[in-house]
This record gives sequence, structure tokens and C-alpha cells, in this order.
Amino acid sequence: MIPISKPFIGEAEKKAVLEVLDSGMLVQGPRTARLEEKFSAACGVKHAVATSSGTTALHVALLAHGIGEGDEVITTPFTFIASANSIIYVGARPVFVDVEVETFNINPALIEAAITPKTRAILPVHLYGYPCDMDAIMGIARRRNLMVIEDAAQAIGAEYKGRRAGSFGTGCFSLYATKNVMCGEGGMITTNDDDLAQHCRMIRSHGMQRRYYHDMLGYNFRMTDLHAAIGLAQMDRLDEFTAQRRANAEYLNERITSVVTPKVRPGYNHVWHQYTIRVGKGRDRDAAAKQLNGAGVGTGIFYPVPANKQAHLVKMGLGDVSLPVAERLAEEVISLPVHPQLGQADLETIVAEVNKL
Ligand SMILES: Cc1ncc(COP(=O)(O)O)c(C=O)c1O
Repeated sequence: MIPISKPFIGEAEKKAVLEVLDSGMLVQGPRTARLEEKFSAACGVKHAVATSSGTTALHVALLAHGIGEGDEVITTPFTFIASANSIIYVGARPVFVDVEVETFNINPALIEAAITPKTRAILPVHLYGYPCDMDAIMGIARRRNLMVIEDAAQAIGAEYKGRRAGSFGTGCFSLYATKNVMCGEGGMITTNDDDLAQHCRMIRSHGMQRRYYHDMLGYNFRMTDLHAAIGLAQMDRLDEFTAQRRANAEYLNERITSVVTPKVRPGYNHVWHQYTIRVGKGRDRDAAAKQLNGAGVGTGIFYPVPANKQAHLVKMGLGDVSLPVAERLAEEVISLPVHPQLGQADLETIVAEVNKL
């Protein structure tokens, strides 16, 4: 089976982990600090704060922005559940705005209608590594005095009009094993705001600046140096990984004719965390995925259920909103392998099998 994802673990990653083990210093330390430096440089921002996961990055960012009980945060229903859960963790309420069918991302034209006196922030998700329309989103945020927390979990290196994802508002990234750059489990918060970065650092580590003096309630959301060592080795290859994903996506886009392929608008630099096709309205997506799997092509369904329809959100009374585009996409999408370790034969197999659908 051609896997839908394959973490790259080369000699550099192995050597880096062994060095940490030999050093005897496993917890957050100099390697985490170096990874933060590399990450902030890669995103074109002043600060990056490493966390234990993308989920905790979102959680910390929301806390650091003072979002909590009684607040509303506008986000997309067509995302991994962590985008919505992080809003719920801080006691706020996710308000779902439907997505655009071509980009899979939140539809900026629908955001203003969802704003209420309780709205504090917009949390757009650059899904699959395709950046959101940030001019429109930042314009609304400025006019309506809202904060922007970008869920850039899937979007390291992505650019909107030459600016990196995660550099518009406060960026939250995931370094989970299948991400474009990974360290097993890990996350990162990016910001240009000195105070916000410091606040995030404190929340990440039990509200502590001076050892065992706890100035505020915090958590243990730290990254370990074992993880950071893997991430550091990966960051050296970010551009290479991205270029290979882009070349793979272009190859597939040029040859797949049986289904709707992803189109990229001018000014958007997609990093192809996922290459996601749509089988078309009324066609049996699950049967199509099964057929591909039977022919040796791994697939992923990201995501089969919009966030507002997940059991715990329905229980919270958040399920009852009409989001027709997200619901349609949840029934139509299939992600195909696009990762940098695909060979020419893999690409040819994927095209041939998808074109048989
Ligand atoms: C869009 C999105 N947001 C948030 C997350 C959470 O990241 P993590 O799995 O590292 O906690 C992910 C990761 O899968 C994601 O894809």
C-alpha cells in the first residue's frame, strides 16, 4: 500500500536523538530554544514558543489572549477537532462559519454575519496547508476589533501574498508525526508581540519565570529536547520537503481527470500537507476510497464529520447550525498520498487508479 503519510526519519534525526540521550538532558532545554529560533525565522516572526502539541499551542494561545468564559470565537467546522476543542477548553464557545467549496477554508464573506457582542476572536484554519484569505480576515478583525489566532497546524511554510502563515495573527502549529515538519508530538506558537510570547512561555510551564515561583496558573505543556532534536533536523529540510510536495501535487493535478482536483488561487502558496480531491456530488466517496485502497493506494478522509456535528459539540447544543458546504465536503473529500517520499512509480499508480474511479 502506498501510505497516505510517511514520517521522514533519516540519519540526522537518529543521530540528533542519540545525542540528546547521551547528554542526559531530556527535558525542555537548548534544543527546544534552537528549534524556536529556527521556527520563528522560518515564519518571519519575532518569537516562537514551543509546546507539547498543536492542541496545547492553540490552548495556550487562547489563554494568553485572555479568551474565556462568555466569549465567542469564530472558526471553521471543516477542520480537525482540536481547533474547536481548544476554544471549549478555555470556556469559550466556538461559532462555526461555513467554508468555501474550492479552498476548503472559512468563507470570509460569511464571517461578519456571525459576529455578536460576545465575539472576541477569529480562528481561521489553513486547511491542508492552503492559506486562508488573510486580507479579508485581517480586514474584518481590524474593523471589528477582534483578535486573530491562526490554526496553522498543517501550514508550515505556506504563504499568502508573500507572507508566511502564522505571521498575520498569533500562529499555532503542530509538529505531529505526519506533519510537513515533525518531531513526533509537538507544537509551536508564533507572534511578533513580546508580551504575548512571554505570557505563552509562562502558561506553558506552570506560570513560572523564576524557578518554583508561580506568578499565575499555568500548565505543563512543554516540549522535550528529545522531540526538539528531531524537529531541528527536519527544519533543515523544510524547503526541500515543501518543494517535493509541490512537485507531487502538480504531477497529480496535471493528470487526474476523473474527479475534482484542488486548484490554487494566484497569490497563495500551498504547502500540500494534504492533496485532497472531491469525488463530486452524489458519488459514493467511501466506495471510491475502498476501491483505491484495494488497488494499493492509501487514502485519508479529512474530515468525515464537521466539528459541529461531533458528539460532544452536539451535546453542548452547537450542532444545530446550517453549514451546507462543510457538510457536502465531509461527504466528498478523499486525501491522496502527496508526501515527499513518493517515487515516480507511486505517482503513476495513484494517477492510474484515481482515473479508474
Ligand atoms: C487543523 C489542525 N489543528 C490542530 C491540530 C492539533 O495538533 P496536534 O495533533 O499536534 O495536537 C491538528 C493536528 O492534527 C490539525 O490538523
